[in-house]
Amino acid sequence: MKPEPQVAISLPLSDFPNLSLDPSRMPRHVAIVMDGNGRWANRRGLSRHEGHRRGKDSVRAVVDAARELGIPYLTLYAFSSENWRRPTTEVSFLMQLFHRYLITETKRLMKRDIRVVALGDTERLPPRVREALAETVEATRENRTMTVALALSYGGRQDIVNAARSIARKVAEGAISPDQIDEQTLARELTTSGLPDPDLLIRTSGELRISNFFLFQLAYTELYFTDTLWPDFREREFLSAIAAYQLRERRFGAISNGSDTRLRAQN
Ligand code: FPP
Repeated sequence: MKPEPQVAISLPLSDFPNLSLDPSRMPRHVAIVMDGNGRWANRRGLSRHEGHRRGKDSVRAVVDAARELGIPYLTLYAFSSENWRRPTTEVSFLMQLFHRYLITETKRLMKRDIRVVALGDTERLPPRVREALAETVEATRENRTMTVALALSYGGRQDIVNAARSIARKVAEGAISPDQIDEQTLARELTTSGLPDPDLLIRTSGELRISNFFLFQLAYTELYFTDTLWPDFREREFLSAIAAYQLRERRFGAISNGSDTRLRAQN
């Protein structure tokens, strides 16, 4: 019998030897809707802030795990365009948390050769956060091992609207004709231009929604929903999601003839 494929591992992933992954079937881009911080805190009689604080630790764990697995792109949906409607105290706390993360993590990200890019309407962020974000993006821009995209004040519909406006301007200027507009034209105008479409979307906390995340980009993405709340989503849960992804057969609208495994969770 063929031995189970094992990923080349180093700590901390070696703590999970029972989860074997196939290195040739790693997703290229994993996107995560990090949900459930509030419920995690409520269940423990803690403030929602504490849930978010613990959620930050999960961010660190998952970034490190993805890097160890050799996943080149990871997007974290950290703050949606709708999250501005939350109570001011919570929004302020989250902004403070993002600021702290950017200030304290940049050194670690540099050490790990991780590039950070920002997605969304970052102009809406408080100046302090915007500046810290710009500094992290600039400091890490030459890093190549992995890209972490932080979606902050991001909305999928707004992303498409902005792209449509930009294309309309180009048409009005005569730079392109309407007939030349294709999927690539639109993809290039989205905030995710330059990133591959996600292969895998993970949403934590049991909610089965997309919540105005990557509406265009998720066309053929494999969806993985888990009841685990984000602050409890660490290396083991991430590996389980990747293992589940590797069992999926990706057909991209084509058909499977049973013997053709070429499309099975491959890029
Ligand atoms: C959703 O949980 C979570 C958020 C809106 C914030 C995400 C923020 C973090 C994970 C903190 C750290 C992030 C970075 C990038 C440093 P929720 O509050 O909606 O939870 P609930 O649905 O249980 O109320």
